[in-house]
Amino acid sequence: MTKSVISNDSELSILKGISFTINAGESVAIMGTSGAGKSTLMGLLAGLDQPTSGSITLLNSTISEMDDEQRAKIRSESVGFVFQDFLLIPSLTALQNVTLPMLLRGNEDETSNNKKAKQLLQEVGLAGRETHLPTQLSGGEQQRVALARAFITQPKVLFADEPTGNLDQKTAAHIIELLFEMNKEQGTTLILVTHDANLAKRCQRTLIINDGQCQENPC
Ligand SMILES: Nc1ncnc2c1ncn2[C@@H]1O[C@H](COP(=O)(O)OP(=O)(O)O)[C@@H](O)[C@H]1O
Ligand SMILES: [Mg+2]
Repeated sequence: MTKSVISNDSELSILKGISFTINAGESVAIMGTSGAGKSTLMGLLAGLDQPTSGSITLLNSTISEMDDEQRAKIRSESVGFVFQDFLLIPSLTALQNVTLPMLLRGNEDETSNNKKAKQLLQEVGLAGRETHLPTQLSGGEQQRVALARAFITQPKVLFADEPTGNLDQKTAAHIIELLFEMNKEQGTTLILVTHDANLAKRCQRTLIINDGQCQENPC
């Protein structure tokens, strides 16, 4: 699979020939220097973007052959993501942001959705902040809302792009525990971009992106 973009009238080849398989239930760290193409790769794997050539299969569906609507359906049914820019909806409260994926999925049981969301906000250390708007929360708190939002649908695959980048050590450690707990207890496939070698070690595999290629770290 390759990914190029047109930048300043010239073609920038970000991913030049990437090929790997991640099995259901695995935990995989993706590493590489800044600008290596990690976030680009995550967007492609999660079906948010399309490759320039080659194909991508997510949960037995060839998402690279699907249109936007079909990919959106797979995402809402099976995928959770926490990206660097957490993309909370500014006009919605923390609780409403967390319950949104349930609504997108067609689950409109407000009582049960709110109960789950409240519990998740508590787990990420945000009890009492349910009615706050994103602007009334710090960067780290917004990131935790994004995590709770990713957890609520109990996704089959969770993509996390530097999920603890804005968090203090203690909160980061707690969030990481939650991610691995999900992987272990619910069998959620965990794909995690990180610069932290210790965190990568906790994953079953590490893929390194370098010069547009992907290399599996043998250790
Ligand atoms: N849409 C785009 N247009 C132009 N350049 C892009 C675009 N998306 C990514 N890039 C460039 O591709 C490279 C890889 O970006 P990214 O995937 O965000 O890297 P990483 O997450 O590893 O830091 C960077 O040099 C970035 O500037
Ligand atoms: Mg990135």
